Amino acid sequence: MSKYKIAVLSGDGIGPEIVGEAVKVLRAIGKKYKICFETKDTLVGGASIDKYGIPLTDETLKLAKESDAVLLGAVGGPKWEGLDYSIRPERALLALRKELGLFANLRPAKIYPVLADASTLKKEVIEGVDIMVIRELTGGLYFGTPKGVEKLPDGTERGVNTMVYTTSEIERIARVAFDVARKRRKKVTSVDKANVLETTELWRRVVINVHKDYQDIELNHMYVDNCAMQLVRNPKQFDVIVTENMFGDILSDEAAMLTGSIGMLPSASLGGKVGMYEPIHGSAPDIAGKDIANPIATILSVAMMLKFSFNLGKEADDIEKAVENVLNKGFRTQDIKQEGMKVVGCREMGNVIVEEIER
Ligand code: IPM
Ligand code: MG
Repeated sequence: MSKYKIAVLSGDGIGPEIVGEAVKVLRAIGKKYKICFETKDTLVGGASIDKYGIPLTDETLKLAKESDAVLLGAVGGPKWEGLDYSIRPERALLALRKELGLFANLRPAKIYPVLADASTLKKEVIEGVDIMVIRELTGGLYFGTPKGVEKLPDGTERGVNTMVYTTSEIERIARVAFDVARKRRKKVTSVDKANVLETTELWRRVVINVHKDYQDIELNHMYVDNCAMQLVRNPKQFDVIVTENMFGDILSDEAAMLTGSIGMLPSASLGGKVGMYEPIHGSAPDIAGKDIANPIATILSVAMMLKFSFNLGKEADDIEKAVENVLNKGFRTQDIKQEGMKVVGCREMGNVIVEEIER
């Protein structure tokens, strides 16, 4: 029997609720296909700060490194917002990405036909949208140095962050984008700000260079401001979008919302030995503990884990199919509710997806 070790870091806010449902789904898959998924839970983010004073302990990092994959819920919340940047919950996420070498973040935004009405955009604009945002995750503006806030002699302050990329960092993310595009509709849009920012001018040159090895893929370039506009004007023009860390953070939220709810979208962070999987939404402290959060993004993150970390394509498809089936049957959480549909809580949504898998 195959066996996989999974570190489960549910984090803060709705994290424990949505991860709980995702683990239930994982167990159902394990039972059905006779695969042993050994899960180990540990604290991260605010929950870790409350217990240990820091968002990521050495033990948690060690557990993550020794696992076959990491399943993460969400981190952060108003309770920890006043803390120094160096020990905020979000730091745990950044440290995990960096320490695990997860430079490639895959964020698919796909419209479910039955949810096309849930989007704030017109149905004809979003119907059929299927975009993969590939965000560079361990470089760029998030990690570049110098950074920080310093006092000036006149008593005012100066804040600095730096956008840095090296040729090799751009090359490896470009390769991921072209490889992913090859299994999709073979089109890559590389997003930069090459008219203003030198580092992204290098980005564009390197992407063009890597493209020489991928002549079967169509490549175009777009400035980030134009891309933000095109995403709402005509999202169907996109297949794979590859971009800098901060640009990708912003554009992936925008792409997610095309689908109607950010509560639906999973993500995979890859590049190192251990992949990390998490919903792209945050910890939603305002609805935490109320059993109304949408667990689907986390459940679909488990599907991505099966596919990318364990090469269990059939099992991953089974989860995706189960999600689609329950949506087709009319089950909805609050965030995607539509007239005439059955609104269920987080736990109930997990249950009906499990039932669908067991069927
Ligand atoms: C995301 C989040 C994180 C990020 C935060 C929580 C650090 O917004 O994963 O998109 O900015 O990368
Ligand atoms: Mg974000």
